[in-house]
Formats: sequence, structure tokens, C-alpha cells
Amino acid sequence: MTIVSAVAHPNIAFIKYWGNRDDALRLPANGSISMNLAGLETRTTVEFDPQRAEDEFTLQGVLQEGAPARRVSDHLNLLRNKAGLAWKARIVSANNFPTGAGIASSASAFAALTAAAAAALGLKLSERELSILARRGSGSACRSVPDGFVEWTSANRDEESFARSFAAPDYWALADLIAILDDNPKKIGSAEGNRLARNSPLQAARVADTPRRLDLCRRAILARDFPALASIIEEDTRLMHAVMLTSSPALLYLEPDTLRLMRLIPRWRDQGLPVAYTIDAGPNVHCLCPQDSAAEVERRLRETPGVLNILHARPGAGAEVIPAQAGD
Ligand code: DP6
Repeated sequence: MTIVSAVAHPNIAFIKYWGNRDDALRLPANGSISMNLAGLETRTTVEFDPQRAEDEFTLQGVLQEGAPARRVSDHLNLLRNKAGLAWKARIVSANNFPTGAGIASSASAFAALTAAAAAALGLKLSERELSILARRGSGSACRSVPDGFVEWTSANRDEESFARSFAAPDYWALADLIAILDDNPKKIGSAEGNRLARNSPLQAARVADTPRRLDLCRRAILARDFPALASIIEEDTRLMHAVMLTSSPALLYLEPDTLRLMRLIPRWRDQGLPVAYTIDAGPNVHCLCPQDSAAEVERRLRETPGVLNILHARPGAGAEVIPAQAGD
């Protein structure tokens, strides 16, 4: 029996992944850039047991069946095949943030699962190999494997599409204040949404323009240029949501309270407060700002109708094996 635990943070994409060139392999249509989110985390323990008949997956203390359990077992099969072992496992996973509400719980989930399972199976993998495997479980999970500010390259081959860090977590003291407007799980998840992206007539234009946006975003981060970062991440958010709104069936993740913040935040910036929005596949609004502006951003968010809660995150490390959390 071998038991290993790992921790991983979700990440917030500044340049979004949306749509695949290969759905089964999760080879993305375009490259993306993200920041890992310390303060939010998934802890996962994997216990392989040669005597066990089936995998058993518990999330937030609830035994999972159906699609979520199959997705975890399918992912473990990739790692079991690599290790040449057929052992089944007990998997216990917990997030310290709402699951499935546009806060990329699948990213931290599959990054932590990959790191824990690889170690438990005795696989000695490089960060690049871990990132490739995590990507197969959930695309954005490959970006939660390396540290800090990360770029995931698109490629036609499995072994060429992985994420790597281009700046450490302490490179830029940013904060992400996540305005929770609705914490119910979304009805259409990212896996389904990613399959619909190619239906939108706007997707080809979004993908073709990606090198420009990646370049602007990477430069803004490396120069710690907040106005440049604000402008490119807000543009990228609107481009992705334009694709979502024009796929068939259409995906409308933005709620009236989301739109209110999309109007207010640039206004706050015009008034001299450095803050910018980015929004994933859900209604919640990630408000990026320098850490020394976070208190004022939070004060304004608290006064804004519809904001139920505010989660705090800052640039975080990559996935890590931690001492086994026996009895989880
Ligand atoms: C909107 O990585 O959750 O958050 O690969 O199917 O699991 P699957 O999708 P997922 O998609 C995330 C999309 C996004 C943008 C991003 O994180 O880049």
C-alpha cells in the first residue's frame, strides 16, 4: 500500500484557454498565461492498494459516483499505464473554496491528483511531464504544476503542450480579490464549453490573434506594468465571452451583477485605483490589483450590490507533494 498527499492551487488565466484542437488529448486551440492563486488550494491524498477492487473518490467528504468518479479513474489509468501497475486507489480531495463556480477547481484538482498519484506509483517525472499529464485531466491543470506566473504553449503533439513558469510568485506583489456573485456549481462545465468553442464564428479570429495578446501580457508581467496588464486581461476576457455568447448552444455565464462590475472596475481605474477584471466560465469576477491597493478594492467591492463574498489570493507556488495526510 502506498499513500501520498499533494497540494495545488487553482490559477487565474490572464490570457484564456478556450477550445481545443484535440478534445481527447486536451491540446488547446491557443496558448495561455496564468497566475497560481495562493490562499486557495486543493489537498488530495491517493492511497493505492493492490487488494482494492475499485477506485473510490471522495470530494469535500462526499463519496462521488458517475461522471466525476469516472473522470478521476480515467486520469489514474493514464498514470497506472505509465507505471505498469493496475492497483486501484482511494482518493480523498478537499478544496478550501467553492467547487465548480468559475474558480477553476478542476485545475487545482487535477494538478494535485497528478502530483500525488505519480509519487504514489513511484513515477519519477519532471515538471514538464507532470504538466503534460495534468493537462490530460483538465487543460488548465497543466498551468497549476509550475510556480507563479506561467505560460502554456499550444502544440499539435501531446509531448509538446505543457506549461512553464516565466516569473516566480514573488516577482510581482499582485492580489486577486475574487468577488463571489453566485457560488452554485455552473450548469455547463468547461469541458463541455471547450467542445462548443469551435462552433463560434468568432473563435478563429480569437485564436489567430492570440500571439499578440500573449506577447502583451508576458511583457506587462515582466515589466510589472499594471495599466498594460489591465488593458490586455480585460480585452482577453471580453474576447472569450464573445466566443461563448456566439457558440451554439450559446453560453451566457455573465450575470447582471457581473456586468455591473465590468462597468465599475474601469471607472475605478479612471479615478486612480489600479484594478482590473478577468472572468472565467462563471459569473464571478476576479479583481486583480497591486497588493497595496487591495484594501481599497475590497472596501469598494463590499459596497457593490450582489457581492456575496470576497476570496483573497496572491501569486502562488506550483503543485507539491506534502507529508501524507493519513485518515483524511
Ligand atoms: C475559462 O481547464 O476547466 O477557465 O480542460 O475541459 O477541464 P477542461 O477545461 P478547463 O477550462 C478552463 C477555461 C477557463 C479559461 C482558462 O483557465 O484558461
